[in-house]
Formats: sequence, structure tokens, C-alpha cells
Amino acid sequence: MNLLITGANRGLGYEIAAEALERGHAVIAGVRSPGQENDKLSALAAKYGERLTVAELDVTDEAGIAALAARMQQEGRTLGAIVNNAAILVARNTQIESLDMDDVVNTFEINLYGPMRVVKHFLPLLTEKDAAIINISSEAGSITNAYPGDYPYAISKTALNMFSQQLLSYVKGRGIQVLSIHPGWMRTDMGGATAPNDPGNSARGIVDQIERKIVPESRFNFVDFSGKEMPI
Ligand SMILES: NC(=O)c1ccc[n+]([C@@H]2O[C@H](COP(=O)([O-])OP(=O)(O)OC[C@H]3O[C@@H](n4cnc5c(N)ncnc54)[C@H](OP(=O)(O)O)[C@@H]3O)[C@@H](O)[C@H]2O)c1
Repeated sequence: MNLLITGANRGLGYEIAAEALERGHAVIAGVRSPGQENDKLSALAAKYGERLTVAELDVTDEAGIAALAARMQQEGRTLGAIVNNAAILVARNTQIESLDMDDVVNTFEINLYGPMRVVKHFLPLLTEKDAAIINISSEAGSITNAYPGDYPYAISKTALNMFSQQLLSYVKGRGIQVLSIHPGWMRTDMGGATAPNDPGNSARGIVDQIERKIVPESRFNFVDFSGKEMPI
């Protein structure tokens, strides 16, 4: 299977890339600055050779996304999974009176419009059998879990969950699975050093779901990394 992963240079995106490569898949690792890879991504490139393609992919740049999709289509490449992983978390613990609306706009640009742009342009390539679109969401997007002062991130993830549902009803006739996955609170730059979960472990559960080794049962296709239903 060929997987396109956004934000694949560090954190969960890197771990999903590493896990998929380890299992024999091919990965297109979307990064904002190709050529300036960190040591970990360079090591993957050295280990897996042609099975890893590092591609410039800023999820806010629709023209760049369209150009990458067109180039891959010309090369006859196909996809089995699109993993919308890139996201930012800003203005946490900020109450509405002091919220900088630019933080809200930027968050939506990356966390919501980013996945929408990527799917818009890469859906025609998603032709492999048992294909999947994985939108990496968060428990913060669960309305049941809402707590004050997390406006940009939480609202963007709630909206991302709705994007998954909209998309699912459009593509399920083609056998494409669409999931919003909460990866757990993980030790990454975003999650911090005290988080309880290893992102490598979350990545294994997510790749299990992409491979349909775990078939989650959830009314709204919002699940955690182990496939367990999340409250909407
Ligand atoms: N960490 C947690 O505890 C946690 C919990 C729940 C959900 N999540 C979700 O899990 C996913 C991965 O989180 P993480 O913890 O791995 O985050 P992270 O360590 O902060 O990494 C974020 C990734 O997103 C990329 N990115 C940011 N803006 C981008 C843009 N405009 N275009 C393309 N890539 C961009 C970053 O690239 P650069 O290096 O270029 O900045 C980086 O690769 C996110 O969707 C997050 O919301 C995380």
C-alpha cells in the first residue's frame, strides 16, 4: 500500500511513516521543508530507499498540494491511504475575551482546511483496494469533553470530525474507509514530555486500522488509536 502522510518529519506523523515502512508499505512523507530533514527522517530514507519519498507539502498551500497530486498522477502513482496528521495547538488556556482571532484562523487553516485541501486533490489517486482516509483528530474535539479555554484547537477538531462524516457518506460506496482517530495524549513536541503515551504505540494502532487488522465499530467513525469508540 502507498500512504501519503502530512507532517511526517516529527511526532506522530514520523512514527506512522516509520511503522508503515517497517511493515513493507511505501510512504510519501509530506514535509514543509524537504532537503532540511532531521536525522530521523534521513535515517528512514537511508534504510528504506525508494519506498520512502519525501515531498514538499504545506497543508496551507493549495497550489502546492494540487501540483504534487498532479505530478504523482502523471507518474502513475496510486494511494491506499491518506493520513491527515499535520496540526497545530495554539492559544490553549485562553479565554474568549483575550483570544487572538488570528490564532483561530491559523488553526483552521492547518487543522481543518489543510485536510480538506489534501483530500480534495489526492482523492482521485486513492484507488488502491481497501483504501482509507485517516483524519488525526483529538479527544479535545469531543463535545462531551469540552472544557473552557481551548477554542481554536478544540473547535477545529470537532469540525474535522464532521469533515470525516461528510466525506464518508461520499466515498463509502467506493469501499473507502474514513476515520477520525484520537491518537492518545502522546510524548511529542505537541503533547510534551509528561504525556503517558508513546507515539510509536499510537502509530501501530493507527496502521493496524489502515490495514484493517482492527476494524473499529463506531457509529460516527470517531475512534481512538486502538479502535475504541470515542464520544462525539
Ligand atoms: N501529541 C498529543 O498528545 C496529541 C493528542 C491528540 C491529538 N494529537 C494530534 O496528533 C497529530 C500529530 O500531533 P503531534 O503530537 O505529532 O504534533 P507535533 O509533534 O507538534 O508535530 C506536528 C507536525 O505537523 C506539521 N505541520 C504543522 N503545520 C504544518 C503545515 N502548515 N503544513 C504541513 N505540516 C505542518 C509539523 O511540521 P513542522 O516540523 O514543519 O512544523 C509537524 O510535522 C495532530 O493532528 C494532533 O492534533 C496529538
